[in-house]
Amino acid sequence: MIDPCTFIVFGATGHLSRNKLLPAIYHLEEAGRLPADMALIGVSRRDASDNSWREQVVELLTQKARGGIKQAVLDRLSSRMHLITADMEDPESLRQLKERIDTDATLPKNLVFYMAIPPSHYSRVAQALATAGLNIENGGWRRLVIEKPFGFDSESAQILDDSLHRHFREEQIFRIDHYLGKGMVQNVLVFRFANLMLEPLWNRNYIDHVQITHSETQGIAGRAAFYDGVGAMRDMIQSHLLQMLTLVAMEPPATLDPESLRDEKVKVLKSIRPISKRAVNAHAFRAQYSPGTVKGEKVAGYLQEEGIAAHSTTETYASLKLYIDNWRWRDVPFYLRTGKRLAKNSSVIAIRFKNPPQQLFRKTQIEQLKPNWVLLGIQPTECLRLELQVKEPGLELLTHTTRLDASYCGVNQYELDAYEALLLDVIENDASLFLRYDEIAWAWDVVDPILKVWDSEHEFIHTYPAGSWGPTEDTRLFDREDHNWRNSLDES
Ligand code: BG6
Repeated sequence: MIDPCTFIVFGATGHLSRNKLLPAIYHLEEAGRLPADMALIGVSRRDASDNSWREQVVELLTQKARGGIKQAVLDRLSSRMHLITADMEDPESLRQLKERIDTDATLPKNLVFYMAIPPSHYSRVAQALATAGLNIENGGWRRLVIEKPFGFDSESAQILDDSLHRHFREEQIFRIDHYLGKGMVQNVLVFRFANLMLEPLWNRNYIDHVQITHSETQGIAGRAAFYDGVGAMRDMIQSHLLQMLTLVAMEPPATLDPESLRDEKVKVLKSIRPISKRAVNAHAFRAQYSPGTVKGEKVAGYLQEEGIAAHSTTETYASLKLYIDNWRWRDVPFYLRTGKRLAKNSSVIAIRFKNPPQQLFRKTQIEQLKPNWVLLGIQPTECLRLELQVKEPGLELLTHTTRLDASYCGVNQYELDAYEALLLDVIENDASLFLRYDEIAWAWDVVDPILKVWDSEHEFIHTYPAGSWGPTEDTRLFDREDHNWRNSLDES
């Protein structure tokens, strides 16, 4: 039985709540997975009544509900929802919230605090919660959910962590990276450790290089205030892409308990070869989108987006080459890249194998054998694909690439959003898919030297036309001439 709880969302009318949290809660309600009697309290600075918030939520869920909105589910959810207008950094406002929770018998006394607010507020809200006595586990547990980015660099992340620990114990803090809630990201572990076939090949003897690409067609989607000055390296690579890298590269954990899993991920991050200041240009590249055409529509460049500083050099595209200096991966390049306003929405992990040692077909018409790839499509299509060489039918000895797709590729029977899995984990107190602080700290150590150099170079940034596959200049990161970006699952 799951404990009933009151789920309190700070920033209830913001972007994250509207786009991710509320739809996830609706879908969990629909699936009957929420604890009976769970209540939802939205906290917002904006003045709105319970009713007007409910109306807004109904409107947005009508657009977002999978397979159409169901009135019965909506009614059940509506009856559990309350909106409070409050200054979340003001202990007095939070004291009133506490009083309401203490005195209202319909509100369960186990509390989740979800920080769907700009990161600069985390520390002050945690402080205000403590001053109002809301961190004290009196009559129920308390859990604090923190969104990424956790800090702005190594130093600020440490300061933030210390400030949270002043009022909350480690096991109460859930640091979210929603990529860990994605089905195919979790599948990386199952694919690697539940099958014998590939494990003997999963190392520097057989793997030539690994690419992790996340591309988006959308621009900054009205998030200028958050994005400008943050950029793609902090927004995507320090968190989501490095997490995916750890899953591809880690050793099998002793057990599946959260600490064993996190220990192995940390070992990978610790083994990443540090990038010195002088090596930054050989390892990392940044660029910004200029005006262009996305899906047939003309779109503005980054500098023309509302709220962006006139001469901003914030990167909307970042790529990075890393080496993991351990026995398994020494000298295998891991290429990571991400960008906004690229040609397609796609997230793919692509693993290229080495060529066979013997050139058996040298004297035939096969000019050059293409390598094998294992492709893990995260989104939009969840897919697991092997690319192999086979003989072309006919009299000549010619080859072509054939693709072996897992049977579920492209069959989206049940699209589960990452937030559904993660919200349920918070309620059920399962921390496996949440980050321990040392993972975050090591990930900052990887990107910090690059960010420092970029922050000091504010005169110039490369550009790429919106709707393209990004800047062409970053091919300089590649170790060999036959290394190229694989743009998506279907494009080699
Ligand atoms: C967020 C970033 O963490 O992830 C966004 O802040 C990005 O900039 C988003 O668009 C991508 O997530 P998803 O789940 O849509 O791939």
